[in-house]
Amino acid sequence: LAQRFSHSAAAPERPSFGIAFDIDGVILRGRSPIGGAPRAIRRLYSEDGTLKIPFLFLTNGGGVPEHRRALELSQLLGVNISPTQVVHGHSPYRELVDRFENDLIVAVGKGEPAVVMSEYGFRKVLSIDKYASYFKDIDPLAPFKTWKVGQKTDSYMSAKVHPSYDVYSERVKGVFVVSDPVDWGRDLQVLCDILSTGGLPGSGKGDQPPLYFAADDLEYQAAFPSERLGMGAFRIALESIFNQINDHPLKYTSYGKPNPLVFKNAASILEKLVMSMYPNSQTSKEVKDCQFSTIYMVGDNPKVDINGASKAGHPWSSVLTRTGVFRGKDNDPQFPADVVVDTVEDAINYILEKEC
Ligand code: G3P
Ligand code: MG
Repeated sequence: LAQRFSHSAAAPERPSFGIAFDIDGVILRGRSPIGGAPRAIRRLYSEDGTLKIPFLFLTNGGGVPEHRRALELSQLLGVNISPTQVVHGHSPYRELVDRFENDLIVAVGKGEPAVVMSEYGFRKVLSIDKYASYFKDIDPLAPFKTWKVGQKTDSYMSAKVHPSYDVYSERVKGVFVVSDPVDWGRDLQVLCDILSTGGLPGSGKGDQPPLYFAADDLEYQAAFPSERLGMGAFRIALESIFNQINDHPLKYTSYGKPNPLVFKNAASILEKLVMSMYPNSQTSKEVKDCQFSTIYMVGDNPKVDINGASKAGHPWSSVLTRTGVFRGKDNDPQFPADVVVDTVEDAINYILEKEC
């Protein structure tokens, strides 16, 4: 193995495989590493700490910029992870910047959703926390939310970027659900207001501004023993309510796994990564398309990770772990994986044994 993948060998041969790891339920539960992840991930690096096997994290989660997540994961796993190795559910939002050039947009979710969008290049972005705070009494339940007293809101936006526009007359032109919403009750209310009125709460009915979800996971594995409701559950709640109070259905676009485009994008990131790792490898100069013979998706959610990898087709191959949403003894009946293992460490052992 060392000979085949070492950087120091003359004209090193690039690996013909790559790996995409899901995060929640595979690498982490909450903020704790699981399934021998730190030890196993270290096997993908050389002794000197340089990356040996091209891999990335392909998660439907997010809420912080990719470079921040890379730092967090580096600390948790004890290896050096670069921002290019982190693909969040919301990462494709950066492609939409031109469409919303001078438009006011609202960013929803845990973490710092407005910071994420600002760093992607969106110029007029407010977190839903900040946006809602401009509208007195928009949430009639706010006085009962004692847990919100003294809460730190989107510090970046309030400290550094004061809106130079009038939120009482300027319509919201786009809503981006970046990460799992925190205050579902308030967010459902405010989003129904924005989406039913053409982007201006308190005004009359109007055309729905575009609405985007970073992912559509009904459930995911966090620290609690059983699955937790995800962004897809929030979408169902918003859609049902919106459809009851309007005479036309909610329109929206969802990103994230299992969309095959997410896998296509991950494959091209891995391709660039391996080219930067092996700049002198013979094939790299002529490479345009994906040169991997196999890219493994290691996931815990059959409907999302395994379904996505199988819909994406060649070169994707799926490995299902039992550390998250899936706990079955055999394979998942509806979305069977190519291989089922207990943990991410077993997945890496399996892949390295097969490939090296
Ligand atoms: O909120 C995170 C969740 O929806 C899924 O994360 O890493 O399992 O794709 P992951
Ligand atoms: Mg998962």
